Order: sequence, then structure tokens, then C-alpha cells
Amino acid sequence: MTQTASAPTTDDAARRDDSWIYFDGEYRRYRDARIGLLTQGLNYGTGVFEGIRAYWSEERGQLYGLWFPEHYRRFHQNARVLQMRVPHSVEELCAITHELLRRNGSRETTYIRPLIFKSAETIGFRLHDMPDSFAIATAPMGDYVPTGGMRCMVSSWRRIDESMAPPRTKCTGIYINSALAKSEALQAGFDEAIMLTGAGHVCEGSGENIFLIRGGVISTPAPADNILEGITRQGLIHLFREEMGLDVVERSIGRSELYIADEVFMCGTGAQVAPVVEIDRRTVGDGEPGPLTLRVQGLFHDIVTGANPKYAEWLRPIW
Ligand SMILES: Cc1ncc(COP(=O)(O)O)c(C=O)c1O
Repeated sequence: MTQTASAPTTDDAARRDDSWIYFDGEYRRYRDARIGLLTQGLNYGTGVFEGIRAYWSEERGQLYGLWFPEHYRRFHQNARVLQMRVPHSVEELCAITHELLRRNGSRETTYIRPLIFKSAETIGFRLHDMPDSFAIATAPMGDYVPTGGMRCMVSSWRRIDESMAPPRTKCTGIYINSALAKSEALQAGFDEAIMLTGAGHVCEGSGENIFLIRGGVISTPAPADNILEGITRQGLIHLFREEMGLDVVERSIGRSELYIADEVFMCGTGAQVAPVVEIDRRTVGDGEPGPLTLRVQGLFHDIVTGANPKYAEWLRPIW
């Protein structure tokens, strides 16, 4: 089973410092981008980010950017919620990201991190009439969670509610909620947390959407249950419907349904398609990744590495 996030080495840090980033209108080296201690986005979590992957195919000698426009459209929408204005159109953002990957000579699977944040270095916070800074950084990235079968726990931390902060956005401050759940799970010896809503419905992982399969019916929590509207989730719903002839029901899911499901898996830009084989010390199905999960995982892998030409429009070849 693949390990998650290992400690960075000195070589990793040197490579990161040398890497190109885009920051406030210029391509610069990572080491030359500095922000002040009083920056509002750092102090109050008033920022919005995205997470995008580009997949390297050794066989094709190509790096494929996955769903660039979809991620940047969500970025634009989320920035609007925080009263920020992204200084580039979706098309420009795709082109800047392309250029960044080329400058960095990226020939391995890479994570792309766009970020916009309130950049005033003053005490006190608000959303309106404040300057923003905008950056994109990239970093090599393998598996973010184990993809061969995860052991999960239902977190004691509930997912934030729409009445408190907007769950459908990737606002930086909201991620304290995910970090509490993630650490609780890892420190208790599990691979990942499953968060419930305040009302007790299944919501999602700390950084992944969740699907369950019972009697051939595929279900996933609906947006009204405070999920992040994942782009991978949307792509997989499409694959289940169009490629596998199966419907997906978006609905509220009870906690104990997790215990009796035939298959459970999580998905996301980081997680990709990650089967769940145990929840709260109960095996899911027969304790092995389920057949429909493995099918959609295989399909997803072939698409993102350019082996399935039918979905070429999801990809942007970088080289
Ligand atoms: C809280 C949370 N839920 C779900 C997801 C999955 O979203 P996406 O598939 O757009 O990466 C993410 C991001 O990766 C996330 O941070």
C-alpha cells in the first residue's frame, strides 16, 4: 500500500526553491516570492485555492493537464464568493499553467496550486475593498492517499455547514475543518476521515468526495449536504452513466449505510479513485476493492494518461 505524504528531503526543498511560479503578473522563482507576516490571507484564512493534476505518461512521453478549464471556472466562481477578482480569464489561466509546466520541465505527475488571497498587511479583516494577490505553484505529486484500499473512520468533527462558511468553495480558512478530521484519523491509525454533516448525513472525506454502491445502485451525497462540488466526482458520474450504463443517485446517505455497502470509494484530484475497504473497523463488502470501483478506477487511469482517445477533450497535452 502506498504511503501518504512522506517528509520532504533537502533535495525536494532545493528543487522547490528553484522551481518557477507565477506571482502577481510575473514568472518568478519560488524562492523569490515572499509575503509579509501580517498578510490578511495568512492571518484570517481569506483565500481561495484550486488543486489540479497533470498526469505523466511514460509510454507516450507526454504530460496531460486534466480538466484545466473546469478547475479555473470553479476558481473564478469561488473567488466571487469571497469578493475577489481573478486577474485573468479562464483561457489565460490555462495558458499560464501550461507555460509554468514547460518552464519547470515537468515530466512527472504534477500537482498545480492556484491561489488568490487578501494581500493587505493590516490588522482587521473584511472581504470588500481589499487588494488580492494571485499565484500558481506546481509540485511533483504521487498518490495523496493509498489507492489500493483505505481504512477509514467516521470523524468526530462534523463538516462545516452552508450557514457558517460556504462548503462548495475551496476557501483556505475552511480547511481547518478538514485538517482536524485528517489528523484525528491518521493519529488514530486510519488512512482517512469520513465527515458527516451537522444533521448526521454522510458528507465526504477530508479532501475527497465519497460514493457507495449497494445492490448495483451507486449513490453519492448531494450538494445540499455541504459537499465540495468535486470535479472528479462529476467526471466519474459521467463515466458511470455513459461508459458503464449505470445511474448515480445524488441523495442524503445515513452513516450505517456505510457499514452495509457492497463498495465504497473516495475520489478527488489528490485522491484520484481510492477504494475504501474498512470503515469504523467493519469491512466493506468482502474487504477488497469492489468490482465497479476497480472498473471506474481503471477507466479513469486510462483516460488521464491519454490511453483512451475518446476523452482527449478532458486533457491538455503540455509537450
Ligand atoms: C474537501 C474536498 N472535497 C472534495 C474534493 C474533491 O474535489 P476535486 O475532485 O474537484 O478535486 C476536494 C479537493 O480535492 C476537497 O478538498
